[in-house]
Amino acid sequence: MSDLLQQLEALQAEAIQALAQADSSEASEAWYREYLSRQGKMTAVLRGLGQLSKEERPAVGQAANTVKVALETALQERQAMIKQIEIERALSAEGIDVTLPGRPQAVGKLHPTTTTMREIVEIFGQMGFQVYDAREVETDATNFGLLNFLPGHPARDMQDTFFTTTPDVILRTHTSPGQIHAMREYGPEPIRVILPGKCYRNEDVTARSEMMFYQVEGLAVGRNITFSDLKGVLLNFANMMYGEGRKIRFRKSYFPFTEPSVEVDVDCIICGGKGCRICKHSGWLEILGAGMVHPVVLQNGGYDPAEFSGFAFGMGIERQTMLKRSVDDIRYFYDNDVRFLDRVA
Ligand code: DAH
Repeated sequence: MSDLLQQLEALQAEAIQALAQADSSEASEAWYREYLSRQGKMTAVLRGLGQLSKEERPAVGQAANTVKVALETALQERQAMIKQIEIERALSAEGIDVTLPGRPQAVGKLHPTTTTMREIVEIFGQMGFQVYDAREVETDATNFGLLNFLPGHPARDMQDTFFTTTPDVILRTHTSPGQIHAMREYGPEPIRVILPGKCYRNEDVTARSEMMFYQVEGLAVGRNITFSDLKGVLLNFANMMYGEGRKIRFRKSYFPFTEPSVEVDVDCIICGGKGCRICKHSGWLEILGAGMVHPVVLQNGGYDPAEFSGFAFGMGIERQTMLKRSVDDIRYFYDNDVRFLDRVA
């Protein structure tokens, strides 16, 4: 018996010493195989238990168990240390240079349409125009009828409409119906508002037209508003939007809700009017439609045309961005290719 106890004692001392040398996960596994596994030295010693007499067995068995538990505990402690050693080893092997700059994070930006819209709102804000938020879902009456589009008038066809399953309810084809809402809400007080927002047209998507796009409408109604006021406001806008010294010109046009109606051009911001590819060698770029509010529309808005007059204008927001940032295809705006959004934003 004392022989076995001695062997156990010697084995414990040997094992503890060997464990202190193990400094990697592999080494600790090898140690386990050598001492604690079924093929290990501990098992070999325990086989000797069978040779002992019944009286001797419990005491030696208990001693063996104590040694086993002691070795298992020692292994666990050693493994925790090894883990720490290995982390430190890996860190120093990687040689992290804490002075290196961090990786740049991609930062989100405002959409180009939003940026341009805010710019336009800011410019007209400085001229005393307030933002009026009008609905995108409209009635046929407000989108067309009250704006003096007569039934069956070909001007309706110019604005291919998205209808809904509810009769007379449509998606607005332009921001102009907001004029009616603004006038009815604030009339008969004088008003000066701009109305930015989404519009929808059931058109083929091409480089020049999208099904969904943004416009900004402008409307001023008062007692002595003249065409000169319109000119002054738009010239100021052109200078603030496209640069100091810009010229504008008016071409006669037709819209049912304005009389007279005009289309407004700015001298080409690329060539300054000399003629280039962007302005198709005309020296001018079309930026918006405008006119004096038609008396019928004033009346529909609740103003007496004998006493009140007004001007209105409407422009495509993407179009302003396209001119300003030399974008030649409107489809880029809502394709959501971040390379475009990043460049133009
Ligand atoms: N609503 C017109 C369009 O979508 C643009 C427009 C033209 C608006 C003249 C106006 C205006 O207010 O006076 O084509």
